[in-house]
Amino acid sequence: MKSLILDSSTRLLVLTGAGVSAESGVPTFRGMGGLWENRPVEEVASPQGFTEDPVRVWRFYSQRREGAAGVHPNPGHTALAEWERHLGDRFLLATQNVDGLHQRAGSQRVVEMHGNLFKTRCSNCERPPMDDTTVYPEGTVPRCGACGGSLRPHIVWFGENLDEADLGRIGEFLTRGDGKLVFLAAGTSGAVWPAAGLVDQVRKLGGETWLVNFDPPENAERFRHFVQGRSGELLPRLATLA
Ligand SMILES: NC(=O)c1ccc[n+]([C@@H]2O[C@H](COP(=O)([O-])OP(=O)(O)OC[C@H]3O[C@@H](n4cnc5c(N)ncnc54)[C@H](O)[C@@H]3O)[C@@H](O)[C@H]2O)c1
Ligand SMILES: [Zn+2]
Repeated sequence: MKSLILDSSTRLLVLTGAGVSAESGVPTFRGMGGLWENRPVEEVASPQGFTEDPVRVWRFYSQRREGAAGVHPNPGHTALAEWERHLGDRFLLATQNVDGLHQRAGSQRVVEMHGNLFKTRCSNCERPPMDDTTVYPEGTVPRCGACGGSLRPHIVWFGENLDEADLGRIGEFLTRGDGKLVFLAAGTSGAVWPAAGLVDQVRKLGGETWLVNFDPPENAERFRHFVQGRSGELLPRLATLA
């Protein structure tokens, strides 16, 4: 297998997607057939879906909280935490996952681009998001203690924008200029934004690009290196720490 060299000049940005948590037992949306209760998952993961049926949305996220609380990081998560310990500030992990498994594996420099399953915020007022592991009883929608509005999961839903501060942190890391830039995407198709946008940006900056994914990439030509397989098996063997 090709080896990703992580030496004293490497500056590594890793982007992870749902595939990285699949081996922990957290299904990808595609793994669920894109369906939940036989309806497109977008219906419970979009602002429209929340307006139409907040009870359904909370049932979905309460189930996901229950599911994610009972799983554990896999060797793929652990490998990324080890790379970070080796590289320090020359490492940044941007994740599209909301399950918190990277942090539980020891990752510290993490940008949660799609939010966090264990945070809740008000859909109505500007109160900051709060930690929340509650599995709400069927049929309920929690209310904001400050304004009485409906609380919602702190998740970036389909059709919503990513946080500017998160994008800024990734942009700064990319353009920092020190060391040799490397980008690795894992468990994400690589064909959709932001993976696709990031790989193009890194190429423009002259960086090296890697993709580790189970399914073949739809944009193979964009990544310099593609390693096909399961991230929990491949990531622990991929890097040479020098
Ligand atoms: N664990 C989570 O937090 C989680 C799970 C599902 C969805 N989501 C959210 O929904 C969004 C859409 O997710 P999605 O599920 O449609 O993504 P997706 O299905 O498009 O992407 C998953 C990718 O991972 C690959 N994959 C599957 N198993 C893998 C493995 N073991 N190793 C490596 N690659 C593997 C698949 O080939 C696929 O390309 C995500 O960006 C995320 O915000 C989060
Ligand atoms: Zn409120």
